[in-house]
Amino acid sequence: MRLGIQKHFGLDIWGDDNFIIEEGLIHINHGSKPSLLHITKKLRAKGYKGPLLLRFPHLIEKQITTLFDTFETARKTFDYTGAFQAVFPLKVNQFPNFVESLMSVSKSHHYGLEAGSKAELIIAMTKTPIGSPITVNGFKDKEMISLCFLASNMGHNITVTIEGLEELKTIIQIHKAFKLSMKNPLSPKIGMRIRLHSSGIGIWAKSGGYSSKFGLTSTELLEAYEMLRQENLLEYLWMVHFHIGSQMGDIAPLKKALREAGNIYAELKKRGATSLGAINIGGGLAVEYSQHEGKQERNYSLQEFANDVVYLMQDIAKSKGVEEPDIFTESGRYIAASHSVLIAPVLELFSQEYHEKGLRLKDINPLL
Ligand SMILES: Cc1ncc(COP(=O)(O)O)c(C=O)c1O
Repeated sequence: MRLGIQKHFGLDIWGDDNFIIEEGLIHINHGSKPSLLHITKKLRAKGYKGPLLLRFPHLIEKQITTLFDTFETARKTFDYTGAFQAVFPLKVNQFPNFVESLMSVSKSHHYGLEAGSKAELIIAMTKTPIGSPITVNGFKDKEMISLCFLASNMGHNITVTIEGLEELKTIIQIHKAFKLSMKNPLSPKIGMRIRLHSSGIGIWAKSGGYSSKFGLTSTELLEAYEMLRQENLLEYLWMVHFHIGSQMGDIAPLKKALREAGNIYAELKKRGATSLGAINIGGGLAVEYSQHEGKQERNYSLQEFANDVVYLMQDIAKSKGVEEPDIFTESGRYIAASHSVLIAPVLELFSQEYHEKGLRLKDINPLL
């Protein structure tokens, strides 16, 4: 893959110093800085033909460390008292060799996993270190909620997010069943996903916002609160959750959503949900894919993002006189997107340049 001098494919815009070009070859900017061509030739010599998917765990580690360090800087800047916590949404990548690398490079940050299906929940239960957070979103049936209760009795730090009132009824039912069948069973923490009035953004914008099929409306939220209070389960209510969409190019809709969710957090806490202690802002951190100057997809830096989230949450907590909550993120694309490179064999070259010779012209030709 010899590159012309001026052909750098916008690496300076999207590459984040992960790759460098030296003597016309692309090198991975890590360790002995091997070129992708060298790696490919070595693998081909071993009989692997391709396409080849190369994974670079150091790039997963870099994203996780950057995320945690950036939020730590924001917390210090504003003297924020809540903690920063993060989970990886398994729907974004659940391949064993990715998840193994993810969990091994992130141990020191107590990074956890988010599950949106039974299969993902089983992965989360086996791969998340005890004590690191597991969050469970999406529609859940009786079986899945029972699995969440089993996970908490295995010692997992698990939060089940309520997406609808029927789900809450099932949680209450299973809570009672576990109490009957076990001595001092441990119940999972409960989160409430809010169906925001602010609209979603980016790809999958419909999974956020008022028309989303996920989450509780304001009246349902109050109903859920009342059900938990009557069943003496308010002590488990610990998280307010929202997710406005993927690949957010602009930060303004997130700030609007956070104002809405932050105020709901504070009002619920003042109403009597004293165990509430976390706000989960979902995923959505954008990745820069553009190769062209002036056409960037993301108009904010990670530090601006973290500062805005921390500042806003602090502002709401101060003005309402409640504790500053732990801030959770569930960004997946930001963590996973840049860690792998697909190398495909070139089978044929197509050109848009036609030479008269190639056109096989006759003596008399139609005008076209
Ligand atoms: C609830 C929830 N959290 C997190 C994510 C991950 O989003 P992203 O990969 O854009 O960060 C999604 C994606 O759909 C989601 O639905």
